[in-house]
Amino acid sequence: MNETSEKLDTKELVGEGNKPLISTRAVTMQASPLRKLAATAEERKRKGIKVYHLNIGQPDLPTDPVVFETIRNIDHLTLAYAPSAGIIPALSAWKNYFAQVGIHFDESEMVITTGGSEAIIFAMFAVCDNDDEIIVFEPFYTNYNGFATIANVNLRPVPLSISNGFHLPPSSEIENYITEKTRGILINNPSNPTGTIYSREELQVVVDVVKKHNLFLLSDEVYREFAYDAKFHSVMSFPEIRENAILLDSCSKRFNVCGARIGVIASHNKEVIQSAFKFGMARLSVATIEQHAMIPLLNSPEKFVQPIVQEFKRRRDILYDYLKEIPGITYYKPEGAFYIVIGLPVKDSEHFAKWLIEEFEDRKETALIAPAQGFYATPGKGFNEIRIAYTLNEVELRRSLEIIKFALEAYRK
Ligand SMILES: Cc1ncc(COP(=O)(O)O)c(C=O)c1O
Repeated sequence: MNETSEKLDTKELVGEGNKPLISTRAVTMQASPLRKLAATAEERKRKGIKVYHLNIGQPDLPTDPVVFETIRNIDHLTLAYAPSAGIIPALSAWKNYFAQVGIHFDESEMVITTGGSEAIIFAMFAVCDNDDEIIVFEPFYTNYNGFATIANVNLRPVPLSISNGFHLPPSSEIENYITEKTRGILINNPSNPTGTIYSREELQVVVDVVKKHNLFLLSDEVYREFAYDAKFHSVMSFPEIRENAILLDSCSKRFNVCGARIGVIASHNKEVIQSAFKFGMARLSVATIEQHAMIPLLNSPEKFVQPIVQEFKRRRDILYDYLKEIPGITYYKPEGAFYIVIGLPVKDSEHFAKWLIEEFEDRKETALIAPAQGFYATPGKGFNEIRIAYTLNEVELRRSLEIIKFALEAYRK
């Protein structure tokens, strides 16, 4: 539920009277704008209204039992710190996993992290000094804002448009955002929140810009396998940026183990991995048990990933098919991940989302959606858009889309 941004009311954090003051970083750190909507959702549930959650990227599917069996079979005498870069069998399992998707890393080129989140933070720490800049494509995964605050980095958003399904602009446009402070480009493919998959030609444009300006390319590929129509290409398949590319990855989504908190940062650039290793040393290690629990998944990814991906493809098709029945909306066919950004025929999607959860009901049911403003950094963008995460089963997905359709009719009246 921490996926969208909002400036906190500073009064909540700044000490009063003789209390010491909290830091500027803490005050400017984003909180979820959904926290108020989520609180309202809980209130409405208490009043007997069923709420469909279209707002969170947490799949509703059961986690494969092999994870829990592996944990039950652990017979260590002491629950000790793991090595800072990760336990050797887990690093070997990541190596096996990558090899099976055509990416080749040695164990020494990876550091296991607490989710993809820590991998992204380590990458920012490794390539940026205070107030350096990283280019992102907007709308983007909203926690990039929080990671940038933690790392004291400024994000420079390059705007994308719903009109072409949020595909990338030409190199001249990307280059407009490069300054002497730019250290890298952060790309998320397939994308949260848009579900867009960038073609090889689009990626080549980014790769060429990175090469020309000697930047790092931070690539968040946590949704790699969630590619339904378009073919996914990793930035690691561009040998010309071998020293520039940093891969940020995670078990969370593809294996449906969000709570395990296991990710990885990987690069052929020795300085980058050495730096990530040092950051890793400072936090000692990643949870030992969960590293063990991921090994069977990483060693046989096809077996575990494909049922999940097939289910999400079915849901994507159901969603896409239903959208044509909602008058006045703007949409495109999302090619991957499990999200879509939809343009609504309203002036302010935040107001609509609030009204939907606070006031609307159809047969004692309503829905919680994410207003898209939180996925933009440029003021004034995304005001008539929402993001939907289609992480509900078929029946619930259809019903929740029907609720949005009825709600839009009622709201516009
Ligand atoms: C694009 C993207 N990157 C990274 C993450 C972080 O995932 P985790 O820390 O669970 O690996 C998420 C989670 O929603 C995401 O959507």
